[in-house]
Amino acid sequence: MMEKMVERTRRLVDELISSIDTPREETRKHEIKHEINRLLDEMLLSLEKREPESSEEEEEQVVTPFVVSVKDGGKIDYDKVIEKFGCKRIDESLIDRVERLTCRKAHVFLRRGFFFAHRDLDEILDAYERGDKFYLYTGRGPSSESLHLGHLIPFMFTKYLQEAFKVPLVIQITDDEKCIWKSLKPEDSKRLGRENVKDIIACGFDVTKTFIFSNFATVGDKIYENMVEVGKRVTVNKMMATYGITGEDPAAKISFPVVQAVPSFSSSFPDLFLGNDKLPCLIPCAIDQDPYFRMTRDVAPRLSYKKPALIESKFLPALRGKNGKMSASDANSAIYINDSAEDIKRKANSAVTGGRDSLEDQKKYGANLEEDIPFQYLSFFLEDDAELEHIKKEYGEGRMQSGEVKKRLTQVLTEVVERHRKARAAVTEEMVDAFMAVRHLPSKFE
Ligand code: TRP
Repeated sequence: MMEKMVERTRRLVDELISSIDTPREETRKHEIKHEINRLLDEMLLSLEKREPESSEEEEEQVVTPFVVSVKDGGKIDYDKVIEKFGCKRIDESLIDRVERLTCRKAHVFLRRGFFFAHRDLDEILDAYERGDKFYLYTGRGPSSESLHLGHLIPFMFTKYLQEAFKVPLVIQITDDEKCIWKSLKPEDSKRLGRENVKDIIACGFDVTKTFIFSNFATVGDKIYENMVEVGKRVTVNKMMATYGITGEDPAAKISFPVVQAVPSFSSSFPDLFLGNDKLPCLIPCAIDQDPYFRMTRDVAPRLSYKKPALIESKFLPALRGKNGKMSASDANSAIYINDSAEDIKRKANSAVTGGRDSLEDQKKYGANLEEDIPFQYLSFFLEDDAELEHIKKEYGEGRMQSGEVKKRLTQVLTEVVERHRKARAAVTEEMVDAFMAVRHLPSKFE
């Protein structure tokens, strides 16, 4: 936009200068032109400084912590997201390395490309190989009573990372975030947060290595010190551009990102990490959270802290409609943890399919697996590689019908949900307190 205006000004200057027919000296004309162009360049530069991130308005797809949308119902182009954010794709050799170092097969979410991007994961692995420790950090904004599968995915994956690398983990419950962005009262947000913690615990975390904390209850002391230190090093302009905040937004939005940033620094948790201020941090998250940690990584060296590393996922697609992510606002588009087997069956059956309209066409052309949501879901939740490969071949080549795939998906999802529900029912209030207690943790955290 601004560039176009500058270009237009340059052209007008050209025209003006060539149209002046008073006998002014030729050299003076060129001096004027040169000077105006220099000023325009300077203006462009200072504009870049003020708006480091490009304006999202004209872009085809928007991915921020608050908006994930694609123009005209298209699919998210994850290569573009990687390019725009400046992270890296996770390739086969990195996955092999994870398998070698952890002596186990990589989680399906990793080996099937659902966690697909990273920042400095290779450095974390280098450190691990040398025998150095790191810790994991992830979080959850408690926006609803009942979670859907999309909410659980990062925690299922984090549980695998904790087990595979045997490392400590901090989980931030951003009960403050949801009061700022939604019309939730603090007491409701805190209650939802505690309920969500039960679902998180049900994913199987090890209490001796895991600290779950609510921002309302815990932010202070070292965490707050770090918030101030980070906040001092980020301009209001940068905050506004990075998070799409405008001058009309509540001021609390400007102060939130530093809260999400600082658990990336081990010095924020002196009790947990016994004063180890330099413990490297790895953050598993969905890619929409990247802006928070891009900002954190910018600031870290100026505070002599290590930049946090990231391992980032795609979004679980909505069952109906191909773009975006599973959304809490369309109950039929998401599988909820408390859905009955009947609900799951109905939802799986109404999912967007890549199967052909007639049996004849299906046999002739095979299913379009790219467009087939049930197949995509199976590729995230069906662990058996051989069975998935079989379905891919048979369905893709038209020897299997979409009804069969949906039926298998219903079984798989019912099992996942049932397993989670059982684990959730076994979580007691005492367990929640144990995970959330501020405590010195054993030497495993050193
Ligand atoms: N903002 C996240 C949400 O809305 C919650 C969150 C806080 C988080 N800290 C995080 C997510 C670290 C991933 C990693 O759910």
